[in-house]
Amino acid sequence: MIDLDGVTCRYGRGGGDGDADAAVATVAVDDVSLSVPDGEFLVVAGANGSGKTTLVRTFNGLVEPDAGTVTVNGTPVDEDLVAARSAVGMVFQDPRDQLVAATVGADVAFGPENLGLSHDEIDRRVADALAAVNMAGRERERIDSLSGGERERVAIAGALAMDPDHLVLDEPFTGLDEPARRSVVDRLRALHRGGTGVVVVTHDLRDVAALADRIVGLADGRVAVDAPPDEAVSALPGLDVRVPESGKFASPAE
Ligand SMILES: Nc1ncnc2c1ncn2[C@@H]1O[C@H](COP(=O)(O)OP(=O)(O)OP(=O)(O)O)[C@@H](O)[C@H]1O
Ligand SMILES: [Mg+2]
Repeated sequence: MIDLDGVTCRYGRGGGDGDADAAVATVAVDDVSLSVPDGEFLVVAGANGSGKTTLVRTFNGLVEPDAGTVTVNGTPVDEDLVAARSAVGMVFQDPRDQLVAATVGADVAFGPENLGLSHDEIDRRVADALAAVNMAGRERERIDSLSGGERERVAIAGALAMDPDHLVLDEPFTGLDEPARRSVVDRLRALHRGGTGVVVVTHDLRDVAALADRIVGLADGRVAVDAPPDEAVSALPGLDVRVPESGKFASPAE
């Protein structure tokens, strides 16, 4: 469970020369209170610059709020960063910011290796995480030989290998073609069904709206919509969010 209470994040405040700073400070996240229960599939939507990335980065301490509190499983994130990072896995928008090793197996093993686990346990976690993204047995392949969709799935596997309660993905579909998008969506659906909480940040709801339990729409750093998909859809176009063409959300494909 992730809990935000009155979270506010600013950029450009202080550290410069005097009162000019106050004028240029951006309030990226403005007094947001939000709970994300275990197992929930939450979509965070909103236009460019509405504060989506900043908001979700508070979930595991990558961004520290200027005001308000974030707790994960009841513990304030700033009191136990390690616990927050193991409970909330983050997949960055650009896999190049995430993939650190030369091969698939080494990359997915990177996180678990830092947990001091046995080799057998690390190998098992890597194998399970790759299976969960439909890349079973591909440990020895080089990252630079993979397609964009495969890299995205390896980045997801790297987060999964830490066995998080919640998996947060920031714009996971950027730059992916339709088959690759579908493949990632299918994996997210399967993870959610398996009990992992999934948080997807996007300004394009076409692929994920049907999977969501809830959609939170941000506008200028504030929560403008917080509703199940079928209720949220009428409010979202006003937030400059791309919605499915029918204007309705189909049930998830079985
Ligand atoms: N490192 C930074 N320094 C200064 N301002 C920033 C920084 N990161 C974000 N901002 C500003 O904070 C606001 C919210 O940005 P954020 O990246 O959280 O929004 P977003 O909804 O994720 O946008 P996008 O759709 O472009 O990814 C924007 O006005 C942005 O310009
Ligand atoms: Mg962003």
